[in-house]
Amino acid sequence: MRAGLAKAQLTPAEYPATEVWAYNGTAPGPTLRIKRGALLRQRLVNGLPEATSIHWHGLRLPNAMDGVPGLTQEAVGPGESFDYEFTVPDAGTFWYHTHNRSWEQMARGLYGPLIIDEETPPDVDRDLILTLDDWRLDQTTAAIAGGFDGLHDQAHGGRIGNLVTVNGQFDHRQPVRGGERLRLRLINTANARIFNLGLQGLEGWVVALDGQPLEKPEPAAEVFRLAPAQRIDLIVDVTAEPGEEAYLVGLERDGGFALATFEAGSEAAQARRPAPEALAPNDLPAPDLKGAREVPMLLEGGAMRGLAKAEYLGREMSGRELAEQGQVWALNGVAGMPAAPFAGVGRGETLRIPMRNDTMFPHAMHLHGHHFRQEHEDGTLGPWRDTILVDPDQVVTIVFAADNPGRWLFHCHMLGHQVAGMKTRIEVAS
Ligand code: C2O
Ligand code: CU
Repeated sequence: MRAGLAKAQLTPAEYPATEVWAYNGTAPGPTLRIKRGALLRQRLVNGLPEATSIHWHGLRLPNAMDGVPGLTQEAVGPGESFDYEFTVPDAGTFWYHTHNRSWEQMARGLYGPLIIDEETPPDVDRDLILTLDDWRLDQTTAAIAGGFDGLHDQAHGGRIGNLVTVNGQFDHRQPVRGGERLRLRLINTANARIFNLGLQGLEGWVVALDGQPLEKPEPAAEVFRLAPAQRIDLIVDVTAEPGEEAYLVGLERDGGFALATFEAGSEAAQARRPAPEALAPNDLPAPDLKGAREVPMLLEGGAMRGLAKAEYLGREMSGRELAEQGQVWALNGVAGMPAAPFAGVGRGETLRIPMRNDTMFPHAMHLHGHHFRQEHEDGTLGPWRDTILVDPDQVVTIVFAADNPGRWLFHCHMLGHQVAGMKTRIEVAS
């Protein structure tokens, strides 16, 4: 995998191509696809003008392969390389992306899909990957707009773009046949945009979230949200009449637009099929709810509420001093990476983290190296996830058995929030 400069036609043909940063010349990068339990080996070769790394988002891998500069490896300098090698424990829809200066490097195109196949994949006619992104481009030159470090964006909803693409295309189209059954793997690779999605001419079920199968497929809701870094696997039937179009729709306040268009050609010789079976579960460690250690997390800061004070680089600072340092968010009173881990736990110990969002913005909280479940007030557990949206003035409690030794980043996946304070780490003893 060579990270380097490339050109991509993200916009309509009357605009010039956009200079992107890309893996092997394309944004998104190449689809990596292997079987569950296989060995993934990739050499990252850095052809960029600055240091970089690759993080394998959502994978329960050995800590040294997690790709976080300063925590699990040295950043890979220009002209240098790094070998990633590990076995992939879980089947599902995952992705990889840079983890160095990610708020800029990802906005320039450094990410791609990583699909880990089940031993027995579900019975579908097509397996389609839909990688969603949101670019901020200059409206005349189609060049990627600067201002990555803008504190205004970072203190609000993050770097929201002005061009949405699917698989690097503003008008992604896919021929299908009427009545076909599709597996759609949606990946939100945007810096900050939360997609509100709907289906038209497609009907079906959600079968997995963040790579992990649901215990039972659930009918797709009329509108479903996909926060940055989250994935959703759908199994849908094409119900559009032959010759018509079906859509994955992006819904905004002022209406909807087609994110992806499926052209329904001639009818497939298939009667409507029954609901799909659940995908085979991955082998995830059950949390011990009774013996769990509780460590609450307070999310603070941002526009309209602000930070009165917080600790940064080991010193208490006022809100104004923090802003001068580019810090506007804090987790438990600390902006940026704390000296001591947010939680240090023994291997296998269960952590319960009630996350209280005292800000005016939603945050897509992501934990490395583990999957967790939301614990609802009535004690029931939500689906396995690696990234969960915490809405303003909400408390979302997650639980998980910390069975993967190492130093694991825990941060907001709105990348401008992460660099402006919203990150910490959990340490699991070996
Ligand atoms: Cu998608 Cu820290 O990761
Ligand atoms: Cu955030």
